[in-house]
Amino acid sequence: MKKLMVIISMVTMIVALAACANANNSASSSSGEKESTQGKKVIVVYFSGSGNTKRVAELAADELKADTFEIVPAQPYSEADLNWTNSESRVNKEHNDVSLQNVLLVSDKVTNWSDYNVVLIGYPIWWRDAAWVINGFVQNNDFSGKQVIPFCTSTSSELGSSGTNLEKMAGTGEWKEGKRFTENPDESEVRQWARELNPE
Ligand SMILES: Cc1cc2nc3c(=O)[nH]c(=O)nc-3n(C[C@H](O)[C@H](O)[C@H](O)COP(=O)(O)O)c2cc1C
Repeated sequence: MKKLMVIISMVTMIVALAACANANNSASSSSGEKESTQGKKVIVVYFSGSGNTKRVAELAADELKADTFEIVPAQPYSEADLNWTNSESRVNKEHNDVSLQNVLLVSDKVTNWSDYNVVLIGYPIWWRDAAWVINGFVQNNDFSGKQVIPFCTSTSSELGSSGTNLEKMAGTGEWKEGKRFTENPDESEVRQWARELNPE
């Protein structure tokens, strides 16, 4: 009988300890979530056909300790596809026929999108505007409550109205003045720009 009492009290103790450990776990995970949502969470979303915008996006993300999300077309653009000097190339066909600009993406959904306060969105300039590949992402996401900062790379064109065109397309979000980079800007220029953004 004494043995049985000892066993029962040991089991009771184990159950009580396990309950205690569980309570501690849930407390720490909820405070962890609080920490991440209280600070500014930044994500750099970008499309890049030949790698220039990707490089800028990754440098900016590194400087801001931000996450990245690459907009990837379901059918990636080959070098031949991007050859705008060939009137038969994919980009030329898409440029000449707006209905072809609705490019299918691998995904347009960012995990935990609602957690992000600041979105940098990067793209190459195509025919003096943002490459249409990002349109689906811009149209299919809600930017409400987010600060949005466009950036682009180009040979010589300026940002122009590409940022404001995207703002109209999105219809939501607090869009800021964007920034244009050359095709292969100095790392220090990109890092300085990202640092000075000082996202609110
Ligand atoms: C289809 C196409 C159209 C382009 N149109 C322009 C343009 O109008 N103005 C410009 O300065 N550069 C233009 N470029 C050059 C790209 O903007 C530039 O190379 C950019 O850095 C490419 O970025 P990515 O490597 O991320 O794709 C064009 C490139 C392509 C492929």
